[in-house]
Amino acid sequence: MFTTKCAMQNIRNVAVVGSGHGSGIAQVSASSGLNVILTDVKQDSIDNAMKSIHKSLTRISKKQSGSDKEKADYVTLTMSRIKTSNNVSTAVTDADLVIEAAIENIDLKRGLFAQIEQSAKKDAILTTNTSSLCLEDIAKGIDDKTRFGGLHFFNPVPMMKLLEVIRSDQTSDETYATLIKYGKAIGKTTVSCKDTPGFIVNRLLIPFLFEAVRMYEREDASMTDIDAAMRLGASHPMGPFELADYVGLDTCKFIMDGWATKYPDNPTFAPSPLIDALVSEGKLGRKTKEGFYSYKK
Ligand code: 3HC
Repeated sequence: MFTTKCAMQNIRNVAVVGSGHGSGIAQVSASSGLNVILTDVKQDSIDNAMKSIHKSLTRISKKQSGSDKEKADYVTLTMSRIKTSNNVSTAVTDADLVIEAAIENIDLKRGLFAQIEQSAKKDAILTTNTSSLCLEDIAKGIDDKTRFGGLHFFNPVPMMKLLEVIRSDQTSDETYATLIKYGKAIGKTTVSCKDTPGFIVNRLLIPFLFEAVRMYEREDASMTDIDAAMRLGASHPMGPFELADYVGLDTCKFIMDGWATKYPDNPTFAPSPLIDALVSEGKLGRKTKEGFYSYKK
């Protein structure tokens, strides 16, 4: 069981709010021995998340040493640590750490944190897994901002080794230290970043994806050649079009649109007509089985 020492908050119970992006976060927390409650207003989203966690744990267990029974026990034990709920307020009451992983909508997130702060323990640490919004904006309605910070995970969460830990100007040293400890306890390498747009990874990655699309729009090279070039010439596991489809074109667009609105004079944040068109046609990438590429069998 993971407990932090000294004056730091002990983390035993984690509440994950939002079962889409939150499913991997719930999984890695539970597989590290923490009690997790995964909450979402949509029951079908929770059901899908639990199925995907089971599938992922089974994949991971197959690579572990031990008998078939030990592998099955690992999956069962980890699953047993994850409870679910449709009610955010009741879900967070016992949490030492709350990780909000809802969609990237500032008003929704503010509303959630108002509910969470009212129901959570006074010393619970409150975090957001935002991929592009400023913590300061999300935290506007939070009374005690010293216990608020950012934990930015990467998909697929069980496989990606990185966790970005974000502190705003008001995040306390104690909160920050506990978040770093949590990251290490769930087996991630942590990096720290100030409360800046996109933190480290997305600030570099999203403009890179859009630059690839612009290259294709200029007809400098084909999509498949750009992807092959970055896979084979830069050792990226996926080319930019494959990765944009994997992340979700709506997510890419949302992030860039948010930055374009906030920083209209920065050409790095220019939108992409092609991504806009694909999103308006409902071609969001892998999740809709069509984006830059088709995933229809
Ligand atoms: N759970 C458990 N295991 C998984 C898994 C999951 N969800 N996904 C993949 N794996 C395992 C597979 O079992 C396989 O294991 P093995 O090699 O031992 O058999 C291994 O990972 C490789 O999987 P695949 O053979 O299916 O496919 P790939 O080799 O293409 O790997 C990938 C898949 C790990 C997704 C790899 O392509 C990759 O790393 N891609 C880049 C992902 C990336 O950049 N993510 C960050 C996106 S940005 C983001 O998330 C931030 C947000 O804010 C936008």
